[in-house]
Amino acid sequence: MCILKASGVKKVYKSRFGGMMVEALKDVNFSVDKGEFVAIMGESGSGKTTLLNILAALDKATEGEVILDGKNISRIKESEIAKFRRDNIGYVFQDFNLLDTFSLEDNIYLPLVLAGKKHTDMKERLDAIVGPLGIADLLKKYPYEVSGGQKQRAAVARALITEPSIILADEPTGALDSKSSDELLELFRKVNGLGQTVLMVTHSVKAACYASRVLFINDGVVFHQIFKGDSSDREMYEKISDTLTLMARGGGEN
Ligand SMILES: Nc1ncnc2c1ncn2[C@@H]1O[C@H](COP(=O)(O)OP(=O)(O)O)[C@@H](O)[C@H]1O
Ligand SMILES: [Mg+2]
Repeated sequence: MCILKASGVKKVYKSRFGGMMVEALKDVNFSVDKGEFVAIMGESGSGKTTLLNILAALDKATEGEVILDGKNISRIKESEIAKFRRDNIGYVFQDFNLLDTFSLEDNIYLPLVLAGKKHTDMKERLDAIVGPLGIADLLKKYPYEVSGGQKQRAAVARALITEPSIILADEPTGALDSKSSDELLELFRKVNGLGQTVLMVTHSVKAACYASRVLFINDGVVFHQIFKGDSSDREMYEKISDTLTLMARGGGEN
């Protein structure tokens, strides 16, 4: 079942007075099935963050449409967007985006507090996820008291607690050391194994190997995709590296 579908997505950034224009996305088309773990790769500046922001209804496409869980997100009223985002999307940022003056627990609760949930419901949901995320003992700590890897796990908990249709992650391992990166990717694999759909932007080949499918964006379009299928991590690593080499050589027109 398709949970996310992007059709003809185009994004042109205009400067304030209309002078400079940047075409960040030209014509992006792809879909994600429920339960998939998809990675998106592309060079710096290829429009990955722009795309995620559009998928998360944080920004609007210039043209095209995005259907998330049966809803056309470009048609959602401005007044309902915050609620739609909270109910349907879990977003994980490269730099965690935790509030420093809140404990990890309160950071994780935040989307549910904003949604007006009862404390007993919040606690039940928290209890269900802290075990698998390995943060049960850290909940009373503040972001400045824990490591980057622990912060990111709390950020993943905050994304999961609303039971979103999809987790969108923008370079989630970008600020982590290699051990914490591996742990975070294992965690994504685990939550995906429990049925959570995950879409992760990364420029790490190693990170992309955790996904079941990798999409490559180049020149504003999805240029290629690779399915993991029965390939080993090593074979997947080679396939991804080969594609990146081809893209870097300007193979975009093939
Ligand atoms: N708010 C913005 N205003 C103008 N140009 C932008 C804005 N955000 C991104 N861009 C431009 O759009 C292109 C894609 O950026 P981005 O989506 O951040 O790429 P990536 O995440 O793949 O590195 C870049 O050329 C970037 O400079
Ligand atoms: Mg980016």
